[in-house]
Amino acid sequence: MLIKKPKASDVASSEITPQSVYMRRREFLQSAAMAGAAVALGPYTIGNAHAGAKLPNVAKTKWTQESLGEGDKLTPYEDVTSYNNFYEFGTSKSDPKKKAGTLKTKPWTVVVDGHVEKPGRYDLDDLISPHQLQDRVYRFRCVEAWSMVIPWVGIPLADIIKRLGPTGDAKYVAFETLVDPEQMPGQGFATLKWPYREGLRMDEAMNPLALMSVGLYGEQLPNQNGAPIRLVVPWKYRFKSIKSIVRISFTDKMPPTSWNMSAAREYGFYSNVNPQVSHPRWSQAKERRLGGARNVFGFIAKQPTLMFNGYSDEVASMYQGMDLARNF
Ligand code: MTE
Repeated sequence: MLIKKPKASDVASSEITPQSVYMRRREFLQSAAMAGAAVALGPYTIGNAHAGAKLPNVAKTKWTQESLGEGDKLTPYEDVTSYNNFYEFGTSKSDPKKKAGTLKTKPWTVVVDGHVEKPGRYDLDDLISPHQLQDRVYRFRCVEAWSMVIPWVGIPLADIIKRLGPTGDAKYVAFETLVDPEQMPGQGFATLKWPYREGLRMDEAMNPLALMSVGLYGEQLPNQNGAPIRLVVPWKYRFKSIKSIVRISFTDKMPPTSWNMSAAREYGFYSNVNPQVSHPRWSQAKERRLGGARNVFGFIAKQPTLMFNGYSDEVASMYQGMDLARNF
């Protein structure tokens, strides 16, 4: 189903949000201010700055490059920002960098709805303030059997969710990307049903690894990487990491997701990285690391893919008792 939404820039939040919801949003902001960490972003705000601007006050975490294996070298910035999948701008890997300049990322608002105590339409800065930005170097494995190691900057998704206050009925979190064919020319074609949609089970969304990213390499996200706010779920195939998010919905049912809607036999809801479960058309046992070591013939050598992309310690317990070949 395609939901037609007004453009974020069309109306002020107070005009389109029912008064009760708007008031609750004010409460949300006040409680955020009282949480004490309100200075995390300082005078700088993501909503006001440009793609590529240096991000201030980024805290180091345990997810550093050193914490990864010897072979997990950072993928060069050039590869991370020029070899992309972002079908809203075309299907070739070089399209997003060439064409995503038309995406207008400010102002940017995110609608929060469903089973949640503080629904509303949030300015980007209201949604992410007052959280402290964090550095997270993650392996990022594409379903197409290539991978990168990317130094993301973001906020744990769990921190945002906790402040929004999902109710007991919220079993899943669903995300949607902007729909605007003028800004996103690829949406003039039916390559996927727009908007791009993704979702996580609530425990997955609350897992400390799940990140709402606003930057990479210490800088604000380039448009082609999903500016101004995108998901990063490192134990799942990269297509779960939805870009340029404008809606977060708390649902009681498993939400539809774009690639599953497009080819259910090939792409499941979970899409955990799993070297033992082949894609119907190719093996997932190995991967090529972009920017990685080349063999004598000049090709990037393949390396084994790790279960849950190497994050088993953090995530395997969530899937205990599940048949991962059926729930792929
Ligand atoms: N999000 C949206 N909205 N549209 C897309 O086409 N592609 C997905 C994911 N998120 C996609 C998306 C896929 S297939 C991949 S591999 C990753 O984004 C790529 O992220 P990157 O370009 O930042 O490396």
